[in-house]
Amino acid sequence: MDKIIIKTPEQIEGIRKSSKLAGQTLEYIADFVKEGVSTEYLDQKIEAFIRENGAIPATLGYGGYPKSSCISLNEVVCHGIPSDNTILKNGDILNIDVTTILNGYYGDTSKMFTIGEVSTVALDLIAATKHSLNLGIQQVRPGNQFGNIGFAISKFIKMKGYSVVYEFCGHGVGVEFHEEPQIDHTSRRNTGPIMKPGMTFTIEPMINQGRPGTIVDKHDKWTARTVDKKLSAQFEHTILVTETGYEVLTDVTGEY
Ligand code: MF3
Ligand code: CO
Ligand code: CO
Repeated sequence: MDKIIIKTPEQIEGIRKSSKLAGQTLEYIADFVKEGVSTEYLDQKIEAFIRENGAIPATLGYGGYPKSSCISLNEVVCHGIPSDNTILKNGDILNIDVTTILNGYYGDTSKMFTIGEVSTVALDLIAATKHSLNLGIQQVRPGNQFGNIGFAISKFIKMKGYSVVYEFCGHGVGVEFHEEPQIDHTSRRNTGPIMKPGMTFTIEPMINQGRPGTIVDKHDKWTARTVDKKLSAQFEHTILVTETGYEVLTDVTGEY
C-alpha cells in the first residue's frame, strides 16, 4: 500500500506559498543573527514574522515542543530549543529551522549561520553539508527511487571523512508536518519507493564532524547533541517532484 500522498495542483500551490514564506523567514532573520543576541530573541522575531504574513509556526506545541523554531548551535544536531540563556558568541555555528503553516499547508526549511570568525574546520563542514543536500536534490525526478537520495549524500560525506546522522530523517511534508515517506540520509542505492510527480518532501541531512551518533537531552527531551560533542551541520529544503525533475519550493534565493 502506497501511503505517499500525490498532491493536487491546488495543494501544490498552497505548499509552494507556505514554503516560500518559510524560505523568506530565514532570509528575514539573517540580519538579526549576531554575537550577543539570545536564541529566544531570534525565535520571537521568527514567530512575529510568520504571524505577520498570515501563517503560524508549525513547531509551536507540536508534540509538546515549546517554540516557533529550532535553533541548534555547534554540537547540537537538531531540535535545539531557543532560550534566553543561549547567547550567540564569536565562532559559533548554528542551524535555524522553520516550518510554516499557511492556509493549512506546510513548508519546512533550515540553513546554517556563522558568528564572527569561525574555524576552517567548521566552514568546511558547513560547505560539505550544503553540497550533500544539493547532491540529494539532484536525485529527485519521476521514476527514481528515494534511496538514491541518501546514497548520493552518504557517498559524498564518507569521502569527505564526516559522518551522516542516521537517527533523524527527512520526511514527506505539505498537508501534514511529517508524512510518508521517511527520507533516510544513509540509504542504499536503488532502494525505497519510486518518486512520482506531485510528491512533496524534505531532504535535510545532518552531518557530523566526528561520530554519527546523537544523544537527546535528558532534561528537555528535545535537544539532540553529537555523542562526541564535535560539530554538526544541517541544511533542509522542501522539494516537489515535477514531471521532469524537481522544484525546490523553499528556495527564495534563486539558487535552484
Ligand atoms: N522542522 C523539523 C524538521 O525538519 C521538525 C522539528 S519538530 C519540533 O522536521 F517539534 F522539534 F519542532
Ligand atoms: Co523537516
Ligand atoms: Co525542519
